[in-house]
Amino acid sequence: MNIEERIQAAMERLFDEVISPSTPPTLRAAMGHALFPGGARIRPQLYMAVAMVSGEDFPALTDAGAVALELMHCASLVHDDMPAFDNANMRRGKTTVHTEFSEPIALLTGDALIVMAYQVLLSQSTKKPLSHDHALRALEMMNLLSQGVGVPHGIVAGQAWECESKVDLWKYQRAKTGALFTASTCMGAVAAGANPAPWMELGESLGDAYQIADDIRDVIGHVELIGKPVGQDAELGRPSAAQVLGLEGANTEFKRLIDQAAKSVPDCSGRDILRAMIFKESERLVPQREYKNYLAMSKKQAARSEHAL
Ligand code: IPE
Ligand code: IPE
Ligand code: MG
Ligand code: MG
Repeated sequence: MNIEERIQAAMERLFDEVISPSTPPTLRAAMGHALFPGGARIRPQLYMAVAMVSGEDFPALTDAGAVALELMHCASLVHDDMPAFDNANMRRGKTTVHTEFSEPIALLTGDALIVMAYQVLLSQSTKKPLSHDHALRALEMMNLLSQGVGVPHGIVAGQAWECESKVDLWKYQRAKTGALFTASTCMGAVAAGANPAPWMELGESLGDAYQIADDIRDVIGHVELIGKPVGQDAELGRPSAAQVLGLEGANTEFKRLIDQAAKSVPDCSGRDILRAMIFKESERLVPQREYKNYLAMSKKQAARSEHAL
């Protein structure tokens, strides 16, 4: 089983374990809609890769951490798409939860997924026979996850910066996106009983790169390609890397952060594999050919309209 298959199997297994048939059927269907089929599942993959190179020895806990991360991420997307935030009607090529079901159900779906993330981790810390070491790992993972999603520096804080008149772009992006990447790398180490500190920089640089890539795709992407609306950042007046640095500046910064992420991988047996994963992911995030085509086309268009004046 490769990492992607392992994550998918764990998602399905733990979903069935937590969601009993007595869950209200519409909520159950909406939670399924938010989770399956998934997106890139990049956070649990990153987490799992770190756990594996750190010598994971408790697969049930590793699986629970992967699922908890993805549940939090999916919850944040359900809420982010709601009319109170980005008011998006499409995500991953299908209708968003509030569009398909209703706003109250979307709100509750996000809430239920957040609680479920703790439920799956908690279930590992109370399983018999109880190992003190494993229970402590699960607790530390919950602590790291909370930092990634809560206040003062997690997703909730990041989304709240959108309600302020003055926003520091990098602080905003690190909170709304970067913090869960940092949680992913650090939780991976903790799941394996390793020290999380050396993995922090990898999470931070990848997280920063990831949101810049998302901002670039919001400008150069197509709905069919990215499965969600484009041009949202400009339309909603969201601070974005493409707007602050310009498209070329954002791409340069993206590539710098990817290099920094690759360099930051601590000395370990899977270092080369992890680095290769990072570079492969960077090409998926911002395909350089597409970026260059878009740039050439918009420069031509600008020259044409200047000529017409
Ligand atoms: C989208 O995240 C939201 C951001 C934080 C940029 P992903 O691009 O990881 O979304 P999925 O899970 O693959 O759909
Ligand atoms: C990520 O930012 C927001 C979350 C933390 C959920 P975006 O609003 O840019 O993400 P997309 O573009 O909707 O996926
Ligand atoms: Mg959004
Ligand atoms: Mg976006």
